[in-house]
Amino acid sequence: MSGRAGRAAVVCGVGGYVPPGVVTNEDLTARLDTSDEWIRSRTGIATRHVIEPGTATSDLAVEAGLRALKSSGEARADAVVLATTTPDQPCPATAPQVAARLGLAGAAAFDVSAVCTGFLYGLATASGLIAAGTAERVLLIAADAFTTIIDPQDRGTAVIFADGAGAVVLRAGRPDEPGAVGRTVLGSDGDHRHLIEVPAGGSRQRSTGLPAAPGEEFFRMHGRDTYRMAVERMTAASKAAVESAGWDLADVDRLAAHQANARILTAVAERLGIPPERQLSNIEHVGNTGAASIPLLLAQAAEAGDLAAGHRVLLTAFGGGLAWGSTTLVWPGLDV
Ligand code: UT7
Repeated sequence: MSGRAGRAAVVCGVGGYVPPGVVTNEDLTARLDTSDEWIRSRTGIATRHVIEPGTATSDLAVEAGLRALKSSGEARADAVVLATTTPDQPCPATAPQVAARLGLAGAAAFDVSAVCTGFLYGLATASGLIAAGTAERVLLIAADAFTTIIDPQDRGTAVIFADGAGAVVLRAGRPDEPGAVGRTVLGSDGDHRHLIEVPAGGSRQRSTGLPAAPGEEFFRMHGRDTYRMAVERMTAASKAAVESAGWDLADVDRLAAHQANARILTAVAERLGIPPERQLSNIEHVGNTGAASIPLLLAQAAEAGDLAAGHRVLLTAFGGGLAWGSTTLVWPGLDV
């Protein structure tokens, strides 16, 4: 591309990865006061993938990154952005290590922290890097080893969250070509940060000099309130993104929403008037994989043929922060 005017970030590769370990609802009912019927009817989840002891977020990210680079046809990127809530360590960021392991040492590399909306915040960040001319090609990975922060005894979260990664490669291109990422609508509401949080482990608790209270190092979610806000925010952000793209809601061929809960996805789609056959979903077999949710869904749907070149895709997510986002793109022809 010559000149920066009218530059857009264009998706040119996609890849997803889940670790081989599978946990079924029956495995969970053996150790928690829950049932297969409750989990399926309340969340839509039947199985989920989990890491082995010793596996870290970077390991998942490298696998997804490799697949996305391969799909793009070139193992090249001048920036690596990693969206995650479960970095390998508190310091440094995990992205530089992932870049080095992918043979991209020297590239700009940093993490983005926006919990389940991390991929959409990452898309906006990557688009900005490209629009500003800071990067020509960005590898955006979203990876979470979410089970590392889940209390295995908390039936409200242990049945939902799981591990996985997804990635896209973005190149500089024109806003009117297939794959160009539309305006990303983002928002946050820090007044409701306590709905989804890990209370301990950060400067607030560490500055006291006292050890974390038992259980405070684990992730907590107030499910019912989160549910209500997730539906409201994803619906509103989706409408704004569709309007920005100059589309009507009836033009949306595929809804790729953060796989938080099958009932939330149905409620959002109903409010948007998007029929079930236009909704992409993999929650039944992967659960809620945090930031990884949307790119993993895109990779699996593209591979299965549920997402094809020319489809007008609406992406939307909601999660801790609180934070939410939405954007649009016309799916490009990709090797997956
Ligand atoms: O990814 C980030 C964004 N996350 C979300 O958007 C998730 C939003 N929330 C949800 O997906 C749902 O709220 C949950 C799946 C977490 C919970 O479903 P719910 O229908 O909202 O249930 P609830 O939290 O209101 O709980 C209903 C009952 C409670 O019992 P009582 O108080 O009615 O006696 C819970 O204790 O279900 C109980 N319960 C369970 N029972 C069996 C909670 N978890 C379980 C469980 N098995 N695993």
